[in-house]
Amino acid sequence: MIPKVRKAVFPAAGLGTRFLPATKAQPKEMLPLVDKPLIQYAVEEAKQSGIQNIIIVTGRNKSSIEDHFDVSYELEHELRKKDKTDLLRIVQEISDLIDVAYVRQKEALGLGHAVLRARELVGPEPFAVVLSDDVIDSEVPCLRQLLDVYEYFGASVVALMEVPEASIPAYGIVAAEPVEHNGTNDRVYRIRNLVEKPKPEQAPSRLAIIGRYVLTPEIFASIEAIGPGAIGEIQLTDALRHLLRSRPIYGYRFEGRRYDAGDKLGFLQATVEYALRREDLGAPFRQYLKSLDL
Ligand code: UTP
Repeated sequence: MIPKVRKAVFPAAGLGTRFLPATKAQPKEMLPLVDKPLIQYAVEEAKQSGIQNIIIVTGRNKSSIEDHFDVSYELEHELRKKDKTDLLRIVQEISDLIDVAYVRQKEALGLGHAVLRARELVGPEPFAVVLSDDVIDSEVPCLRQLLDVYEYFGASVVALMEVPEASIPAYGIVAAEPVEHNGTNDRVYRIRNLVEKPKPEQAPSRLAIIGRYVLTPEIFASIEAIGPGAIGEIQLTDALRHLLRSRPIYGYRFEGRRYDAGDKLGFLQATVEYALRREDLGAPFRQYLKSLDL
C-alpha cells in the first residue's frame, strides 16, 4: 500500500532579498495579494488538497506568521463588540483552518536545509513541500494534481513548468522523459537528472521545477549527504539528484497559471489579476485600469 501524504512543510525562512525593503522586517510569505498573505493562499491550497497538518519553517521575523494563524482574542472581541460579523468570520476562519506546527531555521542556509529542519515533525512518512511565493491559480489545486501522481507511482513528484530560454538560469531544470499516464504522455515525466540554475546552453530542457513537491522520507538522508552548493546553500535540487541514485522521481507539468510572487513584477501581475477576479473589487478596479493613459 502506498502511504498517504498527511503533512506539508512550508519553508518561510528565506531572506527575500528580491523584495527588499518590504522584507526587511517581515517574511515575504506575509506580503498580501489583494488582502490575504501569500502563505494563506498556499495553506488553503494544501487543505483543499487533503493535507491535515502544516509545518511552517520560520526564520527571523517569524512572529507575524505565527500571529496570523493564531487566535486573536483582542481583535475578535473588538469585531464582536462592533457587530462586524463578516470580518469576525474571516478572522476566525484563519485560526480554524488547519493544525499548524512551527520549526526554526536559525540561518538561511538554503531550501534543502530548511526542509531538513522539519524532519522530526514529519517523521518517517511521505510529505509535501509548498513554497508560498509560487502562487498557482488552477481549477484543481496544484498540490492535489501532484498528489494524484504520487498516489499512482508511490514515488517523489515535483511540479514542472516550461519556461522561456532566457529564464532558465533562475530555476532548477530537469532532464526527463515523458511517461504515459491516464491515456496521455504530455504531463508526467520520469526524471533522469536535475541541474540547479544552469546556463541556457547547458540546460537539459526548458522544464523548470516550481515550488510544489511531494517527497518520500528518504529525501532527508539525501539532504544530509550533500554539502553546500555553489553559493554556500544546501539546495533541495542537489538532494533530489542524490535521491535519484536510489529512487525514481517523477515530474508533473501541472495545469494552471503560476505567478512568481517573490519577484516584484510577478507579484504585481498576480495582484492585478487576483483583484480583477474579485467580486467586490473587480468591476471598479477594471474601470480604474481602463481610465489610465497607458
Ligand atoms: P528563494 O529561492 O525564493 O529565496 O526561496 P529567498 O531567499 O527567500 O528570496 P530571494 O531570492 O533572496 O529574494 C524559496 C523558498 O524557500 C524558502 C523561502 O522562504 C522561500 O519560500 N527558504 C529559502 C528557506 O526557508 N530557507 C532558506 O534558507 C532559503
